[in-house]
Amino acid sequence: PGLTANDTLSPPLGTSKRAPHSIIIGVRKGGTRALLEMLDIHPEVAAAATEVHFFDWDENYAKGFDWYRELMPYSYPHQITVEKTPGYFTSALAPERIRAMNSSIKLLLILRDPTERVISDYTQVYFNRLENHKPVQAIENLLVRSGALNTRYKAIQRSLYDMHMSNWLRFFPLEQIHIVDGDTLIRDPLPELQKVERFLNLPPRIMSSNFYFNQTKGFYCIRSEGRERCLHESKGRPHPAVNGTVLQQLRSYLREHNHNFYRLVKRSFDWQ
Ligand code: A3P
Repeated sequence: PGLTANDTLSPPLGTSKRAPHSIIIGVRKGGTRALLEMLDIHPEVAAAATEVHFFDWDENYAKGFDWYRELMPYSYPHQITVEKTPGYFTSALAPERIRAMNSSIKLLLILRDPTERVISDYTQVYFNRLENHKPVQAIENLLVRSGALNTRYKAIQRSLYDMHMSNWLRFFPLEQIHIVDGDTLIRDPLPELQKVERFLNLPPRIMSSNFYFNQTKGFYCIRSEGRERCLHESKGRPHPAVNGTVLQQLRSYLREHNHNFYRLVKRSFDWQ
């Protein structure tokens, strides 16, 4: 029998919308979309389609948990639901609110070199502004104010991983936050995903055949259920060259924060 309109609209039998078992909390431009899409290869993962912004936007949080759950995908009982909203990591209130929902939830945090992240953040805003016919500035004009590093620039603030992490650690033990190395995920996604499978207690299902390197894109793309796809063109954009002196100022400002972060998470990264 053919499908009727109703069949295609109603959810598959035995599925329901459930609050997330795991949340990708950030960081913005860390590779959050790549992580979610790659994790979604796993048959026991049901990923939310859009960024929900429930715990970081007051007007959404005020709508309550039922509103939140409605935005989750339909999933089978053996699956886990995952949502990603990169703004959670840098939100002052998100950790407390997430703990209030589920204190044993597993959190995923994907980070990349914080200097690189600043430039990626700038690049995203630059293209958004171009699309909206707003004026744009050279990155140096945002990074420097009256000859000194403009540490109030939002893109820099978001790269102070130690500050944000210490807020999360007030509400969650370190063991509940798995850090994915976003720089490694770009170069070689499989090992990072295998660590995530273990963290989430998922059977190993993601394989090397699920990835292929796309020369034109310059990034790994996904092969799953007979389909091949790369991330949207807004992911993996070329970055502007930044004035060397300004770049050094930024790196040395972030260095201390990085070392604080390594201490907090008892792990180090090869950030410059
Ligand atoms: P750039 O566009 O600056 O290179 P997010 O999804 O959190 O916004 O992160 C975007 C970043 O994901 C991209 O930043 C890119 O470097 C990174 N990324 C990691 N793996 C990728 C992949 N397979 N394809 C495209 N981008 C990927």
